[in-house]
Amino acid sequence: MLPGGVVTLAPRLPVQAAQPIDLIIDTDPGADDVVALFLAMASPAELNLRAITTVAGNVPLGKTSRNARLVREWAHREEVPVYAGASRPLVRTPLYAANVHGEEGLPGVPVYEPGEPLAEGTAVQYLVETLKAAAPHSITLALLGPQTNLALALGQAPSIVQGIKQVVVMGGAHFNGGNVSPVAEFNLFADPQAAKVVLASGVKLTYLPLDVTHKILTSEARLARIRQLGNQAGSRVYDIIRCYAQHDIDHYGLPGGPVHDATVIAYLLKPHLFKGRDLYMAIDARDGVGFGQTLADYYGSLKQPANVHWVTDGDAEGFFDLLTERLARLP
Ligand code: RIB
Ligand code: CA
Repeated sequence: MLPGGVVTLAPRLPVQAAQPIDLIIDTDPGADDVVALFLAMASPAELNLRAITTVAGNVPLGKTSRNARLVREWAHREEVPVYAGASRPLVRTPLYAANVHGEEGLPGVPVYEPGEPLAEGTAVQYLVETLKAAAPHSITLALLGPQTNLALALGQAPSIVQGIKQVVVMGGAHFNGGNVSPVAEFNLFADPQAAKVVLASGVKLTYLPLDVTHKILTSEARLARIRQLGNQAGSRVYDIIRCYAQHDIDHYGLPGGPVHDATVIAYLLKPHLFKGRDLYMAIDARDGVGFGQTLADYYGSLKQPANVHWVTDGDAEGFFDLLTERLARLP
């Protein structure tokens, strides 16, 4: 306190904005992948999207790669390179989900060849070169489809783990069963061997399984808010998700449709919207009824060290508030 009782306040230092997350999105667009990509590309202050790598999954590689380029064009983010990756899983026969995402992988909207081409080189080469050269534990990977590309990169150059900060996966299912079999979720079922390679690599791993994505569902009101944005991104997300959600609404009798992959990006942007726990998880890649199952030891009965952060709950209203607010920023 100065003489005379004048109080001086310490100069208000600018609040240090968190460093943007250096991010690579690996994806098989796919309706919900498109929403995830829009959300990420609408958030450049928080997410430094280094590249998009594509993989066969919902539809074959040629279509997932075209669709990734389309979303990039719609978001006016053509500076983000798109690298095409694996056209088939490590071991099993290829599996697609055109029954859910449509033959073109983008239901409800016109699909066409985008202007900007793919980047030179493959997704696996890009991952190996980028992660080898990266500063220690500096790059975040969001895996929104079968984990084949990262598994191949790890097989080719195990040392790339040095460049990985964390891997956040949309995949797996525990409490309420699977979506492609009674126990397995599609991304795991489509390439369980790849998921085992990623799990065994020891990277910092977070899963957003159906346990949480089936709790964050569309509704007429939530979709209406997106449509009322009045911009291209809002109307495209509305048209795509309205079409895509109907499959799950009819198939599961859910009150709305999940936007699985977009929860991964929301988790990166606002982790406080989600709850989970560290636990031991194992993946079943044996032929049979358990193929592709993620066994999440939620209560620690196997007494094994935790190897994954398993997200089980999310604030659905908070998610749609974030998604709507970010979509409004796009053209
Ligand atoms: O099971 C849902 C997942 O499978 C999502 O990533 C969806 O896009 C499909 O790839
Ligand atoms: Ca996907």
